[in-house]
Amino acid sequence: MNALLQVRGVTMRFGGLVAVDDAALDVAPGTITGLIGPNGAGKTTLFTVIAGFQTANAGSVAFAGEDVTALPAHTRALRGIARTFQIVQPFAGLSVRENIAVGAFLRHPRRGDALARATAVGEAVGLGPLLDRPAGALTVAGRKRLEMARALATEPRLLLLDEVLAGLNPSEIRDMLPVVRKIRDDGVTILMVEHVMQAVMSLCDTVHVIAQGRMIAHGTPAEIARDPKVVEAYLGHGAARRLAGGADA
Ligand SMILES: Nc1ncnc2c1ncn2[C@@H]1O[C@H](COP(=O)(O)OP(=O)(O)OP(=O)(O)O)[C@@H](O)[C@H]1O
Ligand SMILES: [Mg+2]
Repeated sequence: MNALLQVRGVTMRFGGLVAVDDAALDVAPGTITGLIGPNGAGKTTLFTVIAGFQTANAGSVAFAGEDVTALPAHTRALRGIARTFQIVQPFAGLSVRENIAVGAFLRHPRRGDALARATAVGEAVGLGPLLDRPAGALTVAGRKRLEMARALATEPRLLLLDEVLAGLNPSEIRDMLPVVRKIRDDGVTILMVEHVMQAVMSLCDTVHVIAQGRMIAHGTPAEIARDPKVVEAYLGHGAARRLAGGADA
């Protein structure tokens, strides 16, 4: 199967810090693919490079069979790549509908069309009753839905979700899982950065693991959960053996 997204050899440096180091990953069309790793591993930086918000020092990004490495973010958005931001900053004074319309303007330059599109997307992510409220009045869970809706309103083929479950309580997370699945079922491929492991296990077909900028493993959620390299990346050197009950633990 041809991958919808192919990342090859991406390296991103900030001064002396190598935030992403020779990273490669594939995302198959129609899947929910996870990208996990400890804090500071380079997940958001890799998203930023995939979406074209920052230019990597090396490597390539191919989308739908075409090399998009040299394209700016808005051109990649037109091709069908959308991202959410880990730090959600809606226009607090605008309504929820108007905030979603910011995304919809990408393909619907007329205000009325963009607002109609925003209404449909808002309803699909469960914001229907809140569309006329100011975005500043939303709870954290509402803001996360708004952030997804703004990205979805660009009508992407690939949606990059950066920790959309962060800060939600267990029941809010439970409510969000079917929303994410529905987006995939409607034909949008998803690459998601997520620390909520229970959600990763239940949503993702494939998971890639990054640690200190390097991709260290990929596989099904079950394979990843029992991979000693992954356990060590999260819990420190020797942790896998200690958890397995090693004699010299
Ligand atoms: N614009 C920047 N300038 C300098 N350093 C940066 C910049 N963006 C990220 N970094 C650094 O790059 C590394 C990777 O950061 P990144 O935000 O990609 O990690 P992350 O995996 O998304 O972490 P988290 O799980 O905490 O969101 C970190 O050490 C971070 O401090
Ligand atoms: Mg991040």
